[in-house]
Amino acid sequence: MSIGQSFPDDFVWGVATASYQIEGAPEADGKGESIWDRFSRTPGKIRNGDSADVACDHYNLWRDDVAIMKQIGVNGYRFSISWPRVFPNGTGAMNPAGIGFYDRLVDALLEAGITPFPTLYHWDLPQALEDAGGWPNRSTAFAFADYAGAVVERLGDRVQHWVTINEPWCVAELGYRVGEHAPGRREPKAALDAAHHVLLAHGLGMEAARAAAPDVSIGIASNIDVKTPRSAHPADIRVAELEDAYRNRWYLDPVFLAQYPHDGVAARNWDQTSVLPGDLDAISAPMDFVGFNYYSRTVVQDESISDAERPQPLVEADLPRTTMGWEVYPDGLRDLLVRFSDAYELPPVYITESGVAFPDELVDGAVHDEGRRRYLEEHFAAAAEAQAAGVPLRGYFIWTLMDNFEWAMGYTPRFGLVWTDFDTQERIIKDSGYWLAETISGRSKPR
Ligand code: FCB
Repeated sequence: MSIGQSFPDDFVWGVATASYQIEGAPEADGKGESIWDRFSRTPGKIRNGDSADVACDHYNLWRDDVAIMKQIGVNGYRFSISWPRVFPNGTGAMNPAGIGFYDRLVDALLEAGITPFPTLYHWDLPQALEDAGGWPNRSTAFAFADYAGAVVERLGDRVQHWVTINEPWCVAELGYRVGEHAPGRREPKAALDAAHHVLLAHGLGMEAARAAAPDVSIGIASNIDVKTPRSAHPADIRVAELEDAYRNRWYLDPVFLAQYPHDGVAARNWDQTSVLPGDLDAISAPMDFVGFNYYSRTVVQDESISDAERPQPLVEADLPRTTMGWEVYPDGLRDLLVRFSDAYELPPVYITESGVAFPDELVDGAVHDEGRRRYLEEHFAAAAEAQAAGVPLRGYFIWTLMDNFEWAMGYTPRFGLVWTDFDTQERIIKDSGYWLAETISGRSKPR
């Protein structure tokens, strides 16, 4: 039996992308500057000095890209809307040309039998809002809600499924604590407030979207990761629990339980003064679905103890690794889905991202990416096991359609089912893309 047959006929087989990673055209048709435009032009921030000014030139080649999705046979497409294309300064008057781009894209997808799943925020904050304080500033959440309502009002007659925020952990932690992503700030206290405001934006954004189009189906896409303790030493276990709080529970507990994880809050000494009355009600309003992005696990340890003090056996971080340096750990997908469905009352679940970068090579016009095919097959199997265990899984979006701009790593990691030639903009379907086409053919009903 092919792995595709483990899923129901109406399962969504999709691919995912994000505006900044594929579109290029940073100044076209009145688009405003985003924090990623600014960040990636700052020397030293992006590997090899790569720039996303062209990326996959999807802003011009989108029709071809829809045709490729149709050829592969996906019935769902998760893309993101660039906020500064629609509102160049983040607020104010809508830019008709900017929303027009997504309007045409949506029509073309529907025409191709592909259900659009737009994400309203996949990290390209209008620079004007960062200049006013960015996510640590509460008013950014309200600006997001206005933007979300306006976009849903415009497209909600044809688009039912909406994702509010992509990976709030990355926005807050990588953007404001670690500084590895735009806007590149290293301010631990501001990062905690940023995390809260991003979640608040999700809650207010849902309200605004529902006010604009009552039948929308809306949820968040959170990135989840397994934190494995290096040993059974209590200190390692405590570190793993805290890392789990910072990465997983910090973003899921507020949404499902209307509270932040006590252990994490205490360890980070967060005063929670940015949490105002009513915020957690907005954040925990029921979602129509939840999206999980899953890639890997991390083995963690308490750095203050030595291996000699640890009980054996030690867990080695020695699973196969990807170009990102991430361990390949399909069981983690099943385990996390089952765990979260025990811990929370989950609405329908989508895997909103899962995929892998390996050092692909183009040889005689083909890419024999057997490693990616195996990765996908193993992760589909893990998802099928979770589904069999009762997790209400409705769809699976592979990251990503085509090789693109991988944030601070530039063009080095290739995650695509489709090879992108960044000199000519030629797209070549990799073996994994053909395999996916076979896996889903005959199984999905275009809607
Ligand atoms: C996720 C991001 C996505 C992509 C993948 C590899 O964290 O949401 O844009 O970069 O990682």
